[in-house]
Amino acid sequence: MFLWGTATAAYQIEGAVAEDGRGPSVWDTFAHEPGRVRDGHTGDVACDHYHRWAEDVELMAAAGVNAYRFSVAWSRVLPAGRGAVNGRGLDFYDRLVDGLCAKGIAPALTLFHWDLPQALEDEGGWLNRDTSGYFAEYAGIVAERLADRVKLWITLNEPFVHMVYGYGLGTHAPGRTLFLEALPVAHHQLLGHGLAVQALRAAGAGQVLITNNCTPVWAASDSPEDTAAADAYDILHNRLFNDPILTGKYPDMSAFGIGEMPGVRPGDLETIAQPLDGLGINYYNPTRIAAPSTDLLPFDDAGVTGYPTTAFGWPVVPDGLRELLTGLRARYPGLPPIYITENGCSYDGLDDRFRIDYLAGHLDALRRAQDEGVDVRGYFAWSLLDNFEWAEGYHQRFGLVHVDFATQARTPKASYHWFRRMILKRMISE
Ligand code: NOJ
Repeated sequence: MFLWGTATAAYQIEGAVAEDGRGPSVWDTFAHEPGRVRDGHTGDVACDHYHRWAEDVELMAAAGVNAYRFSVAWSRVLPAGRGAVNGRGLDFYDRLVDGLCAKGIAPALTLFHWDLPQALEDEGGWLNRDTSGYFAEYAGIVAERLADRVKLWITLNEPFVHMVYGYGLGTHAPGRTLFLEALPVAHHQLLGHGLAVQALRAAGAGQVLITNNCTPVWAASDSPEDTAAADAYDILHNRLFNDPILTGKYPDMSAFGIGEMPGVRPGDLETIAQPLDGLGINYYNPTRIAAPSTDLLPFDDAGVTGYPTTAFGWPVVPDGLRELLTGLRARYPGLPPIYITENGCSYDGLDDRFRIDYLAGHLDALRRAQDEGVDVRGYFAWSLLDNFEWAEGYHQRFGLVHVDFATQARTPKASYHWFRRMILKRMISE
């Protein structure tokens, strides 16, 4: 059965940051530092989903979705990241999972959506190899409790974005500005993924995936300089996180002046490259790349022009999804089934025709990719609710459901009703 769902993440919706024994995460710390998040917004309350989850499950049931992607806050389960387990934290997800199952909605659980327990960040975070092992222990603990009901497990969300924004440029938590020195964060996340796959399988978890943020990369021109720059960007954004998982090798990083990936030990790549039941893809837009104008990085972002843009300013290029998926299939002969674990746009207003066009266009592109032979098994719209959009705070609204953050009132937008009708039609015809 094709999965039709919506997606969220813990820090973006839950709130209740100091309740029931939850420990602080890097996002609590970061959001409270002045100047980090637009207008000083934090996830302290967010959508108050921790208390309103039953209402949110009702909204999903009424939309007719058969799946829901959410993430577990590591620091609710292990307040210090490792060691003592906080039963009340696990109880919350247990209730949520039961609530979903009671409505026939399959839970798709992400274990890490960027909210590392602060205690682990204090020991170096993902720059510390030990974090990989702690992640696997945490994965096993969650699976012991929920594997009987959660059929789809996602280890990491967008390790590329977490490395670049969190540790490379510092615009996300933990706010480090290490540029290319952040590369060990890639390897330690990937190693954590591999170890977590083992822990999940040992605990009886069903389908196991990772979610990568992928982008089709367009060279700004046919010149050898622009083409080489586009290849370098493709390596950093896409292949650094797909190749080790799907082929057991890191790509050639020489364009970045790197001979060997730092921190790789014998056996690591075997751990990383274990078979998966699917690959999660988050798609938002393509990227256009030109030859570098500085010697900081081997590429420049030339910007995609000539397309409509979302409220965030991101170009809307639905066919980029088809291009991405067919490109993945061509590159990786053993490509596992694909799940679109996120796709959506920021746009204001309840009468969100723009979002309907966005989603409809991307679903058409997905159909074309399927016609070209790509095995796609699910589609999750980002997002169920307007929520805390990281460094943008509450300014970018991605929800099918509007949230009034003063009252917490939820109001389905036109796109919610459209999504419901679309799912119904597809389910009948498929
Ligand atoms: C991808 C991230 O996983 C999610 O947390 C974020 O809100 C969306 N992109 C939109 O930026």
